[in-house]
Amino acid sequence: MNPLELLPIPLLEWYEDHKRDLPWREDVTPYRVWVSEIMLQQTRVAAVLGYFTRFMQALPTVGDLATVSEDELLKLWQGLGYYSRARNLQKAAKQIVFDLEGTFPEDYAGLRGLSGIGDYTAAAIASIAFGQPYPAVDGNLLRVVARLTADFEDITTTSMKKKVTQALTEVIPAKVPGAFNQAMMDLGATVCLPNGAPLCHLCPLSDFCLANQQGLQAMLPVRASKKARRIEERDVFLMFSQDRVALRQRSEGGLLAKLWEYPNELSDKEEPTLPYDLQGDAPRFVGVGRHIFSHVEWHLRLYALRVQDEALPQGWVWATREELSQRYAIPNAFSSCSGIWEDDF
Ligand code: ADE
Repeated sequence: MNPLELLPIPLLEWYEDHKRDLPWREDVTPYRVWVSEIMLQQTRVAAVLGYFTRFMQALPTVGDLATVSEDELLKLWQGLGYYSRARNLQKAAKQIVFDLEGTFPEDYAGLRGLSGIGDYTAAAIASIAFGQPYPAVDGNLLRVVARLTADFEDITTTSMKKKVTQALTEVIPAKVPGAFNQAMMDLGATVCLPNGAPLCHLCPLSDFCLANQQGLQAMLPVRASKKARRIEERDVFLMFSQDRVALRQRSEGGLLAKLWEYPNELSDKEEPTLPYDLQGDAPRFVGVGRHIFSHVEWHLRLYALRVQDEALPQGWVWATREELSQRYAIPNAFSSCSGIWEDDF
C-alpha cells in the first residue's frame, strides 16, 4: 500500500481552514499562476508579494510581457534575484505570442517546452491553472514526504525526487490537484518547517507521520551538504559628480548579467586602488556590505569620492537619485550602498 494514501483528506480539510491569502490565488489565470511560480522559485512568499502585484499592474497580459523592453523588465525584477528567471519568462512569453498564436499550452508536455519551465513549474501550472493531476515536487514537498514516510534518502537526488513524484501521483486527487499541491506547499511553509523545527502539534497529518511517531523530525530530511561558497573581497566605489553617481552596466553573460552596478573590483589589498583613470579625491571608506549568492559570497568595502572628470568609460552613466530608483536595475548585492549619498559624507 502507498503510505501516502491517508494524506489527501486531512490535508485538504486543513487547507480549507488554513490556506494563505495570496494574490495569485485570486483571479486564477495561467499567466498569473505562471508568473507567481517563477517568482517563487528560490524566493520566499513574503518577498514575492509586492513584486507580483507590481508586475501584474505593469504587465497584465502575456502580450505585454513579450513586448516590454529588457530594461523595464529587469527594473520590475530588481531585488528578486536570479535574474535569468526574468529573461526566461520573457523568452517563453515570446514563444507563446509569436510561435503559439498567443495560446498558453494547457498540458504538461507543452508547458515543459517553454523556457524556464522545469518539472516542478510545469506540474504547478498544470495542476493549479488547468486542474491536471501532477504533483509539484519541490524542496518543501520533499521535506514533508521524507518526514511522513521517515525516508532517509538524500532529497537532492534524482531517485528520491522520482520516488516522491511517483508516490504522490498515485494519491493526488483528480478533482482538486491544484488545491492538493498548494495545501502541501502551505503545510511545508507554515507547519512542517525546515531546519528541525516543525510544529507537529498543529499538523493535520501528525497521526500517521512516521517521523513524528518515531521522534525523527529533526533528523529529516537528509540533504547532501552543499559545497562551500567562494568568498570574494571587493572594493566598491561610489563616485559622485554634482548630484549624480557613476554606474556601469555588467556584461552580457554570467552573474547579474546586464544589471547596473557601482564600479567595483576584486581586491586583496588594505588600501583601495581606483582602477579607473579619473581625476578625483582620494576614496574615503564609508562602510561595508555583504551579499550571499548561491555559489559565491561578496564581502564589500565601500568607498566614496567626488570626481572632477565628467567623461566616463564606455558602458558607464551618471545617474541621479531619481534615475537610480526609477530607471536602472541595481541588484540587492549593492543595497548597502543605497543609503550613501554625496551630501551625507
Ligand atoms: N510556493 C511555490 N508556489 C506556491 C504557491 N502557489 N502558493 C504558495 N507557495 C508557493
